[in-house]
Amino acid sequence: MSAYLKMDEVDRRHRLDDMVQGVIGQPLDRPEGPLKVSGRAPYAHEWHPEGMAHGVLVRATIARGRLSGMDTEAVTAMPGVLAVLTGDKFLRNPAQGTADEAPVQGASDIAYFGQPVALVVAETFEQARHGAQALKLTLETGADPVIDAEAEGVSLETPKKKQLEQGDLDRAMAEAAFTVDEIYRTPSHNSAAMEPHASVAVWDGDTLLLRGSYQMLKYNRNELADSLGIEPEKVRILSPYVGGGFGSKLGIAPEAVAAALGAKEVGRPVSVALTRQQVFETTMRRSETRQRVRLAADADGRLTGISHESLVSNLPDEVFSEPVAQATHFLYRGENRRIVHQIARLNRTCAGSVRAPGEAVGVTIIETAMDELAVATGLDPVELRLRNIPDRDPEKDIPFSSHTLAEALKEGARRFGWDNRQTEPGSRREGEWLIGMGMASAVRVNMLAESEARVRLDPDGTAKVETDMTDIGTGTYAILTQIAAEMLGLPVDNVTTILGDTELPPASGSGGSWGAMSSGTSVFLACEELRRQICARFDCAEDDLTLKDGRAIAGNRAVPLAELLDGESLVAEGHVEPGKTSKAVRQSTFGSHFAEVAVNAVTGETRVRRMLGVFAAGRILNEKTARSQCLGGMTFGIGMALTEDLVPDPRDGHIVNRDFAEYHLPVNADVPQQEVHFLEERDPWANPLGAKGIGELSICGSAAAINNAIYNACGVRVRDYPATLDKVL
Ligand code: MOS
Repeated sequence: MSAYLKMDEVDRRHRLDDMVQGVIGQPLDRPEGPLKVSGRAPYAHEWHPEGMAHGVLVRATIARGRLSGMDTEAVTAMPGVLAVLTGDKFLRNPAQGTADEAPVQGASDIAYFGQPVALVVAETFEQARHGAQALKLTLETGADPVIDAEAEGVSLETPKKKQLEQGDLDRAMAEAAFTVDEIYRTPSHNSAAMEPHASVAVWDGDTLLLRGSYQMLKYNRNELADSLGIEPEKVRILSPYVGGGFGSKLGIAPEAVAAALGAKEVGRPVSVALTRQQVFETTMRRSETRQRVRLAADADGRLTGISHESLVSNLPDEVFSEPVAQATHFLYRGENRRIVHQIARLNRTCAGSVRAPGEAVGVTIIETAMDELAVATGLDPVELRLRNIPDRDPEKDIPFSSHTLAEALKEGARRFGWDNRQTEPGSRREGEWLIGMGMASAVRVNMLAESEARVRLDPDGTAKVETDMTDIGTGTYAILTQIAAEMLGLPVDNVTTILGDTELPPASGSGGSWGAMSSGTSVFLACEELRRQICARFDCAEDDLTLKDGRAIAGNRAVPLAELLDGESLVAEGHVEPGKTSKAVRQSTFGSHFAEVAVNAVTGETRVRRMLGVFAAGRILNEKTARSQCLGGMTFGIGMALTEDLVPDPRDGHIVNRDFAEYHLPVNADVPQQEVHFLEERDPWANPLGAKGIGELSICGSAAAINNAIYNACGVRVRDYPATLDKVL
């Protein structure tokens, strides 16, 4: 039996507002935590099936051109080498679909430095690596590669759908009392998940089993099947534990397809694990951006116009482009608006979703520009933002499902001690350190995604939640357990959540911060259906049923569930889909970021001293995992503000800093005291849980708070992120 909900209207179920057990929201420890910290949670590469061979990718060493040949014979003869999968087999080439059709655009086309072109499979990893290093490629360079989006002569795409012109921006700028018109830049980023991409493939006849590390299994299954030219039903993916994704595991990466092809070729299980360097070079990067922001404000600092023009990049023919202005559409008022979005086609690693695609870089820049407007108007940065909160979506003229920015700004300012800020840059000094405070708004769109789950109540009074949802470190195991425990009146220890297997009902996957609320709603719906089944057995109305401590209670009757089930199991599925509510209202999450930095007057070094974030994202489903998400998000803000910068070589686009020694993510020594506070909120437009996405919200704006604090500390405005020493001095 199945319960289905399309979110066509606001959902005001009160079931969770008077929780019987009060489990949802509690800071429940991760049920899988002990397995992870004791090494008993197997990650993809820790699985070693009998007879497993190893595959290592061979990659192009030019940015643009053709692979016209390779010396496979020499490598095939090397010790331990089982197979060399070459271009035509290795990369799917649609033009080779029929035998009599000549390949038009072959697998031999090279579009970026590091593009996988072959796989060497051998008995041991070392033998495969040796073979891969020895494989001689014949590469033909053609036209010069295009590396720099801003270079002269680079043709830019301007997709119609991504532009907006409302009112008369130029006039608003001309008539404004205060304006900002600046160009800002953010560099390319890597997701930098702790666990590198790894896949182990095993064929059983024409059926593939793949153990990988992925975020969205139902899509990954389709992508993998499509890449191999087989039906999705023939593919099973297992991904029960994922060591971080941050966008890099949203879609199938080269190692999964390579492992499947290699295993097919040698008739044995094959493992392909990317090295850290390969992760940097062949999984998706965040596009660099060039952003021109114009702000027009009246004498009171009220925005009359806002313009956000962005230039991003990707490989030729790729659909994705960093949605830089995603939140600019509705964050601030102003009747005259212009959004311009352009894409340069480059010969660099594919660009994709990385840690809050869009807002992470877009809001960072808008919030830097707003700080400049605060300086221009002489208004306090918090007050400037409060004056510019729109009543309705300023472009679509629809209401907000909820709006918490003002509260988040005030609460953050109060808790941080914003009143103590010196408005004049350079006016607070401790020895050679200049101290400053900065702030920014946080905003991120909220999206529900289709999701299904099955919940099974067994006669012994235990329940199982089953879905192909993933837990990428976000807390899914804990959250889904809590929802089922609350809805079924069971102790959390009586609920087991099983994830990460495409044989289970297809979930939303983990992406775009929609995971917890989407998969959580499907579990909620399945449990509602189970409650109906229990009512039928208990002969009571749904409103009269209370489930608590493993008992069904109605009126003066109370029966243990085990007795009521009488040896049988009850099973129900839940299925949620987005509907009209995603268009009828503007759904967003909001928050605020505050930071205090010390800038060394001699070296230009910035140390973040403390950070504080206030976030409103509907019902918080687990106070501990939500907080952890926000601590992580704010930490990424430190990276974006101060160190992260994926550098392409201008000659061939190869990534110069392709490891953690050279691509600098914040480490413990860089992370100061961080405080996270949540605002109590329910958003009934979002889903029956009233919960919204939180992980990415905490990233958006955090880098700007730090950069604005640098300005406050020393009077240097960095418009080209990150704010490294050379730019601050
Ligand atoms: Mo996210 S960058 O949608 O995993």
